[in-house]
Amino acid sequence: MTTLVLPDQLSRTATATSTFTAVEDMRAGSPEITVVVPCYREAPNVRPLVDALTQALAGRDWEVVFVDDNSPDGTIEAVRELARSNWRVRGISRIGRRGLSTAVIEGALSSSATYIAVMDGDLQHDETRLGVMLDALAGGHCDIAVGSRHVAGGDNSGLANVWRHALSNGGITLAQMILPVKLGDPMSGFFALRRDLFVRTAPRLSGAGFKILMDLVLSAPEKVRVEEIPCTFKPRLAGESKLDILVMLQFLGLMLDKLFHGWLPMRFLVFAFVGLIGIIVNIAIMNVLRLSGTDFSVAQTVGTFAAMLVNFWLDNTLTYRDRRLRGIRLYGGLLVFLVVCSAGAWANIGIAQLFRDDGQTFDRASATGAVIGVVWNYAVSSTLIWRRK
Ligand code: GDD
Ligand code: MN
Repeated sequence: MTTLVLPDQLSRTATATSTFTAVEDMRAGSPEITVVVPCYREAPNVRPLVDALTQALAGRDWEVVFVDDNSPDGTIEAVRELARSNWRVRGISRIGRRGLSTAVIEGALSSSATYIAVMDGDLQHDETRLGVMLDALAGGHCDIAVGSRHVAGGDNSGLANVWRHALSNGGITLAQMILPVKLGDPMSGFFALRRDLFVRTAPRLSGAGFKILMDLVLSAPEKVRVEEIPCTFKPRLAGESKLDILVMLQFLGLMLDKLFHGWLPMRFLVFAFVGLIGIIVNIAIMNVLRLSGTDFSVAQTVGTFAAMLVNFWLDNTLTYRDRRLRGIRLYGGLLVFLVVCSAGAWANIGIAQLFRDDGQTFDRASATGAVIGVVWNYAVSSTLIWRRK
């Protein structure tokens, strides 16, 4: 096909081209190693990390990809600033999403390298061990090389406090109960593997929470050989940890999910659990109001309304954490939630009545009503309110 180029277009093209820097084809093909760094609010750590990697990986063919979830501190700008003058630095910016594991997955899938290494963006992981990890992989000794704090020579002193130490040890014990391979430090966020293994495992990953390594080992299509490289876990360079109680709950969820081979619909269980809390709130408020002389129907209405608000808040922060609503969408979501739950409550009563008319006992009739009610609420919440992004 021939394209007709008009004279004014020609001149525009010419001026446009002239504003670009003319460069030789500086680099052909993908580097051999991609270091994937999930980061959230790590702006001051970006440059020190790139400097540290430049030293540690000198003589190797590498790149680093920072995967940032639209951090308010301008982490991605810090990345782009470096990327402008250094082809080894890349950034992925995700909007409207949060999560360490999914960030790692997307970073790794953006790579065309032979090897993937994953490390934190706060310099807690000892980058000087990367070379040893990559050599272990290249030597064919293992499928995944793990930077481990819990083998001879490793050190875990960088954990913030006694509380974190206890939690970490508890988690390790729990994890080891279900892991198919021996892994002294299953919670490590510092590891390396061949990209093709990652790609083959990716469709099976749960992606929840912080424990991408465990997720990988548990989801890999074949049994993986792991080698642990002793590492020191240093204190964070700047900023603060994002690991909180919700992340730990997600870890429990991941364990259960893998234990039951994905058969337990985790999100639904959390939703039902939140619903249970709602019922308790409802009953508690209703009784307090009744004791202070309020009319039953008023007390019940206030109790139900409070329960719905609590449920909405919990579902938004816990059940649908990864799809959390904010700002104006939060209010829209709440409105739909209230309507949906009220409809659910009516359906619940109606169905219970139907079963009752059918000659079922009270217990069975109201249990059926409740189950159908919660399934309805869940179905509508998942599709209408907290939609998959
Ligand atoms: N993109 C993205 N999105 N990155 C995130 C998010 C998120 O929602 N949450 C955390 N990160 C990034 C952080 O910016 C950091 O680079 C890395 O993930 C680890 O997060 P930290 O908040 O520093 O976690 P930690 O130091 O408490 O936990 C680390 O140590 C644990 C062992 O004690 C992590 O490496 C864990 O994986 C590890 O188990
Ligand atoms: Mn950290």
